[in-house]
Amino acid sequence: MSLSTVTTEGTASSGASVAYTDLDALRRQDPELADVLVGEVVRQSDSLQLIAAENFTSPAVLTALGSPLANKYAEGYPGARHHGGCELVDVAERIAVDRAKALFGAEHANVQPHSGSSAVLAAYAALLRPGDTVLAMGLPYGGHLTHGSPANFSGRWFDFVGYGVDPESGLIDYDQVRALARTHRPKAIVCGSISYPRHIDYAAFREIADDAGAYLIADAAHPMGLVAGGAAPSPVPHADVVCATTHKVLRGPRGGLLLCGAELAERIDRAVFPFTQGGAQMHTIAAKAVAFGEAATPAFTAYAHQVVINARMLAEGLAAAGFAITTGGTDTHLILADPTPLGVDARTARGRLAAAGIVLDTCALPHGDTRGLRLGTAAVTTQGMTAPDMVRIAGLLVDAVREDPNVREEVRELVGRFPPYAG
Ligand SMILES: Cc1ncc(COP(=O)(O)O)c(C=O)c1O
Repeated sequence: MSLSTVTTEGTASSGASVAYTDLDALRRQDPELADVLVGEVVRQSDSLQLIAAENFTSPAVLTALGSPLANKYAEGYPGARHHGGCELVDVAERIAVDRAKALFGAEHANVQPHSGSSAVLAAYAALLRPGDTVLAMGLPYGGHLTHGSPANFSGRWFDFVGYGVDPESGLIDYDQVRALARTHRPKAIVCGSISYPRHIDYAAFREIADDAGAYLIADAAHPMGLVAGGAAPSPVPHADVVCATTHKVLRGPRGGLLLCGAELAERIDRAVFPFTQGGAQMHTIAAKAVAFGEAATPAFTAYAHQVVINARMLAEGLAAAGFAITTGGTDTHLILADPTPLGVDARTARGRLAAAGIVLDTCALPHGDTRGLRLGTAAVTTQGMTAPDMVRIAGLLVDAVREDPNVREEVRELVGRFPPYAG
């Protein structure tokens, strides 16, 4: 797909053909913004996207996102809206809900959260009262802002206690989680992280939560796409509420998702609307439905497994080149790599990588006060890259950190063979 020529056509009841996504028309009306859109398409395809939370959505998802469903106000839920004219968006939301339930084997799905953070906010709103104690992974070890940051509503309104990881192995210390749960008797325990590269033992968390009389909230924003593709264990049978994003490995539009059992369905729905959100974003919900449909295909299963194969290969390549890999590897799409053994700190490394066209994040390392590099393989796998390309990427990273002037061109050559949108 070439975004400079996209024209999506619909047919009005009069039979007239209506173009509603037309970059040429945008350029005529607003060249400044058209330049930004095209420039971003070029940036995404001309550099290497290794941000662990990003991916390339399909043209079908982009079509739903850019559709006139964006115009529709739809407060409430299908069949019970506060606005007229919701017949068709009701169909879209029912399809999204049914597909999410089938994909993840959940009794109830709410597809309205505007983001992952909104999903977590609604989960807390459904289960907690301000001032309640919550046990979650501490932010220095990979907890998300919504897991008790003082800069976030979570840290302001709840009393968070943080668990960490074993300083040697980098793995969650389940004995420590159990001990903290027994001491603090939290109302809820949150499992999930922005940077933990290993599978989470949801059954162990369930057992600890039951022992402490706590709800278990799984914030599976990162691995949910792997869960959909059968490449990671599912939190759904174990957690009271599962929060997720629909972007990241799941490869849908930017947005959130909540799953729970039938007994919490009404509380979760009311916590989203009217408690924490207003009108649902129906274009995004339609795009989520498209993405859930894609995630149910054998092609997606193959992709999810390839994401993990690629991450393992990339982690091995980086370890061989001298990076220190947290936990010694990965089970998922995510790698946490410390460049210090190469004589450079993570922020400097990220700058040198960016100059070479390699885009990734820095992230707190679970030991000491230093930061590491956080990488993910979802986007490059969507582009069609496989294990040999990961070996090459590991080499490019090392060369870029060492400021080899040829790397930018080599990155261009590599990504040029894997255009995210053909045509
Ligand atoms: C574990 C976790 N929870 C919540 C979120 C928040 O998602 P969003 O940025 O869509 O609010 C993220 C995003 O990276 C995440 O990794």
